This record gives sequence, C-alpha cells and structure tokens, in this order.
Amino acid sequence: MNRAALIQSVIGLGPSWEARPGWFEQHPAALSRPPETLVETDMVPEECPAPPREDAITPAQPAVLLAPSPAADIAPPAAPQAHTSPLLEWDALERAVRDCRDCRLCQTRTQTVFGRGNKQARWLLIGEAPGEQEDRQGQPFVGRAGQLLDNMLSATGLDRDRDVYIANVLKCRPPGNRNPSGDEIASCQNYLIQQIQHIQPTLILALGRFAAQTLLQTEKGIGQLRGKLHSYQDIPLIVSYHPAYLLRNQPDKQKAWQDLVFAKKTFSRLSAD
Ligand code: URA
Repeated sequence: MNRAALIQSVIGLGPSWEARPGWFEQHPAALSRPPETLVETDMVPEECPAPPREDAITPAQPAVLLAPSPAADIAPPAAPQAHTSPLLEWDALERAVRDCRDCRLCQTRTQTVFGRGNKQARWLLIGEAPGEQEDRQGQPFVGRAGQLLDNMLSATGLDRDRDVYIANVLKCRPPGNRNPSGDEIASCQNYLIQQIQHIQPTLILALGRFAAQTLLQTEKGIGQLRGKLHSYQDIPLIVSYHPAYLLRNQPDKQKAWQDLVFAKKTFSRLSAD
C-alpha cells in the first residue's frame, strides 16, 4: 500500500480510486460506444471506494439565477440573460470576493473561498459552498469531501492543481453548512459568472444539485440531469453527485464513477474537435 493509500485508510476513506494506465481508453464502455453518443455509460466501476458515512449537504431548494445556453437534451426555462457587471481582472475579482460584504454571510464567515487550481485549466469543477474546513483554510474542497474529490480526480488522471479549477457557487460558508438561500446566490452569482468568463473551460463539471440547478436554471434533480451533456453559455456541462453526498450514499459512487468516465470521454472528444 502506498503512503497516500495508507493515510486514507487510516483516516477511514477507504481505498483510493486508481485508474490503471489506458483504463479509460480500453474500458468496454469506451470501446462499445461511438464517439458521438453522449449518453450515460452503463458500466459498473471496477474499483470503487467505500468510505464511511459523514454528514453531507442536504437537498437544496433550486436556485435558478444564472443563465444557461439552450442544450439539445434539456428543455431550459425561458432563460433570463445572466446579469453581469463589467469583467474584472482576475486579481481584482479575487480582491472583490475577499472584501465582499454583499450578503449576510460576510458576518459569519472566517474568510472567503475564491477557488483553487489552474485558471488556465480546461476543466472547471463547481461545488456548492465552503464548509467548515474550507472556511478555516480559505480553499475549496479541503475537508473529507475534498479528499474524496481528489481521489476521484486522480482516478481519472486529473491533477487537482494542474488540470482543474475548482470553485463554488457561494464564496462564503453558510452557517452550520445550511443550504444557500436564493438571495445569497443572487448576491454571489456575478463572481462565479466572471470566473467562468475568465477560465473559459472546455468542460464544466457541476457537483451536486445546487451547482447543477443554479447553472442550468432548472428544478430537475441530479437523477434527471446526470448522464447528459448540457451546456452553460455554450460551454459543455456535465452533472454529477456532490462528493459530500457520496460520502454518505456509497452506492451512488458507482454512478459518480460513470459520470467521470462520461466526462472524460466527452472531454477527449471535445479536445479532438
Ligand atoms: N462542499 C462544497 O460544495 N464546496 C466546498 O468547497 C466544500 C464542500
């Protein structure tokens, strides 16, 4: 067992997801589907971690504020145009988030959590909001959900710092990890819109119902949204489960793995176009 796997097993996260070289390319799910078939795969993962249960996010009221671009496979609501301010430079945007006092969350946060990773990355992962650890450390996904996310990313051959940028819908922790409210999302949405405009990723992975419903302007649940290629402002978008949800709903990790296989295949296809 390598050191990382040992540490994870000691802290109770179970085995890592480690894709063997060529796994994605050679997997039956990859070989049996024509490249243009952008549907959920039906394979069962060969390696799937089984971490213990943990408190996780609770289902959220849909927050439909950002404006998606129409996608062939969803019937978006009459999409309002995203409200945007003039695009700030990245550093100015970071400062604006750090100093933000636009909603009540500024009174209870320890610090804002802007995002993390490579802002030139081709993958953009969007979660819900900072939790306790993130609020303390000022970085997204550093708690146990973040450890699971790291495992999932490395299993897909993605390096968290090099290949992806990770942001949240909200930049401040809702007290007690409660669901973000609609007005908090409204206050914060311009920051996420501007992050997306800067990064212009090849693929967005929306993690959890909150990110998915916010970006896609829909009230549909994850079950209906995953396994399809959506788009946000002409950027391809795939929906998967939130890692914190997966920590307490272990059977759904298989589906999350399928989502990653689908995302990886989609990304390869998009990169080849
Ligand atoms: N959950 C999220 O959605 N984002 C984080 O940064 C941490 C936990």
